[in-house]
Amino acid sequence: MKFFVDTADVAAIKELNDLGMVDGVTTNPSLILKSGRDILEVTKEICDMVAGPVSAEVVATEAKDMITEGLKLAKIASNIAIKVPLTWDGLTACKAFASEGHMVNVTLCFSAAQAILAAKAGASFISPFIGRLDDINLDGVELIDDIRTIYDNYDYKTEILAASIRNVNHITECAKIGADVITAPPAVIKAMANHVLTDKGLDQFLKDWAKTGQKIV
Ligand code: E4P
Repeated sequence: MKFFVDTADVAAIKELNDLGMVDGVTTNPSLILKSGRDILEVTKEICDMVAGPVSAEVVATEAKDMITEGLKLAKIASNIAIKVPLTWDGLTACKAFASEGHMVNVTLCFSAAQAILAAKAGASFISPFIGRLDDINLDGVELIDDIRTIYDNYDYKTEILAASIRNVNHITECAKIGADVITAPPAVIKAMANHVLTDKGLDQFLKDWAKTGQKIV
C-alpha cells in the first residue's frame, strides 16, 4: 500500500520523505490556506522533493475553467496529478485530462456509484473520504471495501486513494481491504509507530538495564 501525505507543509513532508515513507502528496484548497503559501510555489517545492504523484486541486466549478486551471497546474512538474471534484463538470474535465495523458485524482467521493463514474472517466485515482462519512455516522471504511469489490469485479485500473483519514485504525482497515493508497496527515502516519505496550516495555527494559550498571558504548 502506498503512502501519500495529506499536507502542504513542506517541512513535515521532508521529515517523512527522508525516512522513505512518502510515495506521493495530496493537497487541497484548505491545506494550501493552512500552509500560508502561494499554491504554485509550494506545489513546485513539493514536486521537486517527492518523486511520486503530487495532487494539486482546481477550484473552478465549470469544466472548461477546470481544464484551464488544471493545465496550468500540470505545467508545474511532470508528477502533478490534477485534482478535480466529483461533479459532472469534474468528470468532464477528468476525461479531457486523462485523454491527454495527465494523471487525475477525482476527489470528494462519498459513494460507490460516484467511484464507478470516476473510473469510467479515466481517473488515475479516486479519493473516497472516510472521516467525513464517519462524521455523519456512516461507515467510511465500508465505502473503501465496496469500491474495492466493484473495481476488482470489472478490473478498473483507477487506484483507490483512501482519503480523509483521521486515525491509525483507518489506515490498518484500508490495508486489510486492499486500498491502493492512503493519504493521511503527517501526525496520523507518525502515530502508526505508537503502542502503549511498546512504551511500557521500553520503560521496563531501561529500568532493568540501569540496574545492571553496564554500558554498551
Ligand atoms: C484528500 O485528498 C483530502 O485532501 C483530505 O484527505 C481531506 O481530509 P479531511 O476530511 O480530514 O479534511
